[in-house]
Amino acid sequence: MPDAISDQTTQRPQLHIGDAAPNFAARTTMGQVSLSDYRGRWLVLFSHPADFTPVCTTEFVALSRAAGRFAALDCALLAVSVDSLYSHLAWVRAIRDGFGVTVSFPIVEDPSMVVGRAYGMIADGARDASTMRSTFFIDPAGIIRAMTCYPATVGRAVDEMLRVVAALQRVDADDVVTPEGWQPGGDVLLPPEVHQDAMLASTGIETWFHRIAPGGAK
Ligand code: BEZ
Repeated sequence: MPDAISDQTTQRPQLHIGDAAPNFAARTTMGQVSLSDYRGRWLVLFSHPADFTPVCTTEFVALSRAAGRFAALDCALLAVSVDSLYSHLAWVRAIRDGFGVTVSFPIVEDPSMVVGRAYGMIADGARDASTMRSTFFIDPAGIIRAMTCYPATVGRAVDEMLRVVAALQRVDADDVVTPEGWQPGGDVLLPPEVHQDAMLASTGIETWFHRIAPGGAK
């Protein structure tokens, strides 16, 4: 069905790591917000499929409980779904009443799907307009530095979201890369050598392609 295929490719933008995060202005549970308001801070922009659903509720409770850990990284949170502002507000109240947790970040209403479409948060061929569990890690210059996308059925891990922000900040601080499972304060690695002189002078992998910088120091 060529028409459907071409519809899908025109409908869904291809955002990549390194792209400028598309700007938008929208109503949220904490007032009017523009993406550009977050310039100068790290931002995790994330979509959830729908208010008043079980997995999304666990994510919102966990993210709100982790508010201090995100603040310690100077990282703001901004949620978005196609639900109306009134639905968001009622859900915030239900979370407060049911879990004793006050949602600590704004939730964008996106009933017209302007944000969802700009960020490709709505699955190709989806039967409804609900957004996937998309997460965009945006740096203080407004550049997308990492992205994840989970289905509605699988909740995200807040510890991993925090770890990604900390890792991006670590690699920005020095010319290093972070290994598998890196945690703040842990060993990092030096980027691979790209000149054959350095490679030929090496005496083993620890001076060639596995150069550890202990204790996170350069
Ligand atoms: C949930 O958050 O639990 C959920 C949302 C949409 C579809 C399935 C599950």
